[in-house]
Formats: sequence, C-alpha cells, structure tokens
Amino acid sequence: MRDLADQRDFKIGFAAVLNAFELADNQLYLDTAASEFNMLTPENSHKMGWIQPRRGEFRFDDADALADYAEANNMLLHGHPLIWYAQLPDWVQRLDPSDAETVMLEHIDAVAGRYKGRIALWDVVNEALEDDGRLRQSIWFKGMGEGYIGKAFEAARAVDPDAVLIYNDYDVVWENQKSDAMYALLQSELAAGTPIDGVGFQMHLRSGFDDYPSVERNLQRFADLGLDIYITEFDVALDAPDTLDTQAAVFQRSLEICLAQPRCKAMQAWGFTDRYSWRSAFTPLLLTDRYLSKPSYTAWQTTLKNFMR
Ligand code: XIL
Repeated sequence: MRDLADQRDFKIGFAAVLNAFELADNQLYLDTAASEFNMLTPENSHKMGWIQPRRGEFRFDDADALADYAEANNMLLHGHPLIWYAQLPDWVQRLDPSDAETVMLEHIDAVAGRYKGRIALWDVVNEALEDDGRLRQSIWFKGMGEGYIGKAFEAARAVDPDAVLIYNDYDVVWENQKSDAMYALLQSELAAGTPIDGVGFQMHLRSGFDDYPSVERNLQRFADLGLDIYITEFDVALDAPDTLDTQAAVFQRSLEICLAQPRCKAMQAWGFTDRYSWRSAFTPLLLTDRYLSKPSYTAWQTTLKNFMR
C-alpha cells in the first residue's frame, strides 16, 4: 500500500500502539508498519494522562521513540490529541475549573513545543461535541466556556506555526445532528479567525454501514468551508452475520470516497493487525492477528492501485 500511496502523493496511515518497541513481536510489528504506511499517529502516547501524569512532569520517552521511528522511515507524523475530555491524568480530573486555562496552555506549550517542526499535523481539539451536538461539559469547557476551542488552536499555532491544525471527532462522517453541529462550530470558529486547517473524521464504523451518498455530501460541505479532510481513525467492527468481504467493501467504498474528494489528504487505520486493536473482539482491521492479509487489506491495495488523481 505504501508504494502505491507514495506514487499518488497520498497518505495512508496507522495508529501505533503504546510501547510498540516492547512488544514480543516488535520487529514484525515495526517492519510491517514501515513497509505499509507513510503516516503514523501514536494511539495513546500523546494523551495527557500518559504524557503529563503529574503537573509539570512529562513522560516523553514513548512519543520520542515513535517520532524517531517515523522520521527514520520517512513517515508523516500526526499528533493526537492535545486537548480532549478523556484519558486525563487524575490531577486534571480534580482540577478547579479556574485553573483550566493555565493548565491547557502549559500543556500545549510543552507538548507541541517539544515536537515543534517534527509533527506535520496535530489533532488540537478532540471530541468537543456530545452525540446530540451540544458542547461537552469537559474541564476545559467548564473553565473557559466555548472559547477554549479557539484558545487551544491559537496556542498550538503560536508554538508550532508550521503544523496543520485539526479538529477531530467521531460519528460525524455522515449527515446527522452531530455533524451539523460540527459544521456550525467550525464555520463560526473560522469566521472568528481561529486557525483551523483541517477536520479529522474518526470513522469507527460497523460492517453494516452503507450510507455512502451521505458521506460524500457531508465531506463536500466541510471541504467547501476551506478545510482539508483527514480520515483519522478508520476501522470496521465485523458484526455477525456479515463476512470479511462485507467488511472489505466498507474499507473499499470509504477509501474510494476519500480518494475522489480532492481535499481528502489521508486515510488512516486505527492500527493494522487485529492482534492490536481497541476493538480486537470485532476484528476490525487490515491484517489478521497473525499478520496475514484480510480482504480489507486487498480492498485498500486494489483501490489505491486503481486510483489516478
Ligand atoms: C482509544 C485507543 O485506541 C485505546 O487504546 C485507548 O484505550 C482508548 O482510546 N477516539 C479517539 C482515540 O480519539 O484516541 C481513541 O483511542 C478511540 C476513540
């Protein structure tokens, strides 16, 4: 896949597990990833609960190792995420909201600052919206109100001016109440001058998914806002009685839509072997737990091969 993507100036990515270098099969894992992908996102190594376990104390080892590995293998590095409501350290969960702004700005300065010039794209704000489209009552929202989103992007831009800055969320790739709310949010942020460059669509799907015309229309309206589009966390849970071929069709149609959309810059799987997936029980990825190609892999490879931009 990687050679095909490179030839087409397209990014095909994966999420790298925490402590990848310590896996029992680390050599196989790292070699496979380097031959198949030209983009990498740390699945957990940048999250606040991991990287800033105590206030002002940072644990950069794993993120550093992944950054070195990405550079050694000429992969685009995608940071994920700077500001999120989940996987927070205990001390942030206990934080007084009046401290939230200082803590947010210190965190962005420290983390985006450490990787300045090395991270091509950052998910600056992740999952700010509830399923019904209201803003989540996160610690960041409680401390700063809706303004935290603009402040986070401004801070990221100031510390790493060359990074592409992304708003990332889930269940927003087709038209629904939540994607309508995301559209309104991004439109008003852009009007206010917030430096948002792109929108990340997670795409944690199930094998019964088939609402493709809605996805095409939805991506187009975000493209029309002037935003680049990234499919950031693709996987497809296989539900009975669907087959691996049904799952592969979801991989194929989704990649076709991204490739056909001029502003869609990258397609990234949330892992690659079913052995290491947050939805392992649903075998949602490209390779079996023994690293054998699944129909989903062949579908992506063939789709890339057939595509000429
Ligand atoms: C998931 C990871 O894959 C798991 O390993 C972790 O235990 C929980 O988080 N949306 C996101 C990702 O933005 O960071 C989440 O990743 C999946 C949903």
